[in-house]
Amino acid sequence: MYKFFFDLVFTRMDPEKAHHLAFRWIRLAARVPVLRTLAAAVLAPRYKELRTEALGLRMHGPFGLAAGFDKNATGIDGMAMLGFDHVEIGTVTGEPQPGNPRKRLFRLVPDRALINRMGFNNEGSAAVAERLRTRVPVFRTVVGVNIGKTKAVPEAEAVADYVKSTERLAAHADYLVVNVSSPNTPGLRDLQATESLRPLLTAVREAADRAVTDRRVPLLVKIAPDLADEDVDAVADLALELGLDGIIATNTTIAREGLGLKSDPALAAETGGLSGAPVKARSLEVLRRLYARVGDRLVLVGVGGVESAEDAWQRILAGATLVQGYSALVYEGPFYARAVHKGLAARLAASPYATLAEAVGAATRDHSGKATA
Ligand SMILES: Cc1cc2nc3c(=O)[nH]c(=O)nc-3n(C[C@H](O)[C@H](O)[C@H](O)COP(=O)(O)O)c2cc1C
Repeated sequence: MYKFFFDLVFTRMDPEKAHHLAFRWIRLAARVPVLRTLAAAVLAPRYKELRTEALGLRMHGPFGLAAGFDKNATGIDGMAMLGFDHVEIGTVTGEPQPGNPRKRLFRLVPDRALINRMGFNNEGSAAVAERLRTRVPVFRTVVGVNIGKTKAVPEAEAVADYVKSTERLAAHADYLVVNVSSPNTPGLRDLQATESLRPLLTAVREAADRAVTDRRVPLLVKIAPDLADEDVDAVADLALELGLDGIIATNTTIAREGLGLKSDPALAAETGGLSGAPVKARSLEVLRRLYARVGDRLVLVGVGGVESAEDAWQRILAGATLVQGYSALVYEGPFYARAVHKGLAARLAASPYATLAEAVGAATRDHSGKATA
């Protein structure tokens, strides 16, 4: 049904317009009590066995919405209604900004992929903080807040820009994510180098602790799949050293080669970050590498090409406590999260693991139950 609609309507529309239209429908449905109750009953059935505790937070399950879909926190309840157990809003920057000129979002349908060069179009940290402050939640869902650098801010002042966002947003965040991995803000990914990342994460941690004194806001960093393996290790070591709570792996990739893309080469050559099925293998590889390095000491969030319950299950076995998706929502439609939950519950039941927590990283453990590096 959705696939028919997708082929008939969405593929004929500009991808960004289609996103805004679909998101408007979701938000509208979430505003009508009967509709949202019905929709949630169908799309967000709860499975007791999938209940997840991570980052000191309780969630209905491990599967959430990745950053970039709800940049301004306008549709958290709508996305919870669709079954996402956590919703990561943003990326939010210190100052409002329009993002890159359109067209800036492309569908690679034969590859089940997207390319985007949105460039952090968002209303800025003050406006988003105000929206979160005044929000009256309908559905209980965990809200992550993903922050990034304002484009106009020089790289030398990047830390201050992140700190500004942290001061405004930390109080409204169940967890906070420092995004240093989007390819569409010049210089942003250079912040992944440990000599830049250390002062940045230290300053954000301190700002969060100053801004919120009645609890410790969990802090994560989101990394690119394009990092060299030794840089993945370096970020993992730094995260441990600084007492971070987790790592999100991964963002979109700037790679095109070796991915076997089937789409029109002109489309595949568009500048921006590639997401969806083609990034699956590398995202999983980065996750495995992280888990081998940090084990259970950090919460790992697996994202990138998670299209199905099987993909989500593989991320969990590889070491992810939480899993996220974005691009597959475009291709699978509103039943995406439901399918992931249902399939995860079935896989857990058929597995030797009593709980989902027991399955985390199981693929890397030897028979004695110890993690193998
Ligand atoms: C249109 C679009 C916009 C995105 N915007 C952001 C963003 O603002 N911040 C961020 O951290 N990730 C952003 N992402 C990356 C996703 O959160 C995710 O890491 C990536 O797409 C891989 O997951 P997927 O294959 O399930 O889409 C965006 C992705 C897409 C497709």
